[in-house]
Amino acid sequence: MPAPEEKGHAGQAWSGRFAEPVAERVKRYTASVSFDRRLAEFDVQGSLAHARMLAAAGVLAPEDLAAIDRGMTTILDELRTGTFHWSLEDEDVHLNIERRLTALVGDAGKRLHTGRSRNDQVATDLRLYLRDAIDDITALVRAVQTALVDLAEKHAATVMPGFTHLQVAQPVTFGHHLMAYYEMLGRDRERLADCRSRVNRLPLGAAALAGTSFPIDRERVARDLGFEGVCANSLDAVSDRDFAIEFTAGAALIMTHLSRLSEELVLWMSPRFGFIRLPDRFCTGSSIMPQKKNPDVPELARGKAGRVFGHLVGLLTLMKGQPLAYNKDNQEDKEPVFDTVDTLVETLAVFAEMIPGIEVDPEKMRTAAREGYATATDLADYLVKRGVPFRDAHEAVARAVRAAEARGCDLADLPLPELKSFAREIDADVYAVLTIEGSVASRDHFGGTAPDRVLDAVRRARAELA
Ligand code: ARG
Repeated sequence: MPAPEEKGHAGQAWSGRFAEPVAERVKRYTASVSFDRRLAEFDVQGSLAHARMLAAAGVLAPEDLAAIDRGMTTILDELRTGTFHWSLEDEDVHLNIERRLTALVGDAGKRLHTGRSRNDQVATDLRLYLRDAIDDITALVRAVQTALVDLAEKHAATVMPGFTHLQVAQPVTFGHHLMAYYEMLGRDRERLADCRSRVNRLPLGAAALAGTSFPIDRERVARDLGFEGVCANSLDAVSDRDFAIEFTAGAALIMTHLSRLSEELVLWMSPRFGFIRLPDRFCTGSSIMPQKKNPDVPELARGKAGRVFGHLVGLLTLMKGQPLAYNKDNQEDKEPVFDTVDTLVETLAVFAEMIPGIEVDPEKMRTAAREGYATATDLADYLVKRGVPFRDAHEAVARAVRAAEARGCDLADLPLPELKSFAREIDADVYAVLTIEGSVASRDHFGGTAPDRVLDAVRRARAELA
């Protein structure tokens, strides 16, 4: 009977070389099956494409391919019904599936790994997973955009104060304000689409790092899996995770945009603003203060943005010190990527449901715009159109605002003689520009806040979303 060190240790797929079993603690430390099992169906897809290519190349016998096919059908069924038995002994998703396949179909299962390594396998799985996730997320971003456009159309002419430095600046329409977020999310979708094209390339064939001596057909596998291309360097194919980092960066920007919107929803919902109400089903109460209705959903979204930023920094840091090619560090890429996807999917889905429920108080918005002297710039522009140099007009209006403030009234409430005392160019027609509605209607160019321009933007958006 051979000594243990001669026959190696049974158990792990790679244990032939080892003189003693891996310590239990090390097994737990190095295993990824608890989280990478999420890649299982993609792992099966990748394996089937690899097996079909090997068979076409004459490396795998037709009977073996048929057996692998059969085994994988059973495995998919077990995965979907939750009856697949996962084992820590088998380390990761790849070895768990290979072990089960071999148990089901024997030697054919052991032949599947010909010309392949877990290094190119895991890179393939992650790309297939992300491609799917990007498609789901893109659809959800679109759903949030649609909700924004619907609300913007209803409020194309609803006036509110526009802010700079969170001080009332100039009147805008609420529809215009909402369409700003439509634009941000539109760029987010462009970024996702751009990133998808780089995610969608095939690492398989790179094997462990140097390629393989078998007569493989990588183009065929790429076509089979719907990849747009093949990774052109085997070392790069197994080692870089820039595609996942890029995705997470795009995700971080989406969360940034949703977080900004969240911050505004929280402010607008505060009784100090009172611009909007969120339906009760999107709020929670306080266990001690009976009067409270808290905007938990936007607050959480604002908070969860931080978690996605953390994943981005985590992934960048994971990558930066790695020499070529594959290193086990890369196993740490999965949890941040999965959590980024989950956070994004949940946040976008809840926003798509919540936005249509936003109830607007147009009177509160209008009052806030009037109280903030939001039409002061309009008065200055009026004077400029009558030949007053802009700086002088600015000065005259500033004095008028101070007078109105002292009286506790709006600019439009000052009588004509008093207005004239600040600039003799002012006539009775000034009151038309001092109204909030007149002010927004005059911003009537592409990208402006005039209600008609908002409706144009809504029409363009609907065409883009169609
Ligand atoms: N579980 C590993 C990962 O996620 C799979 C690749 C393992 N490769 C290796 N040479 N140990 O990265």
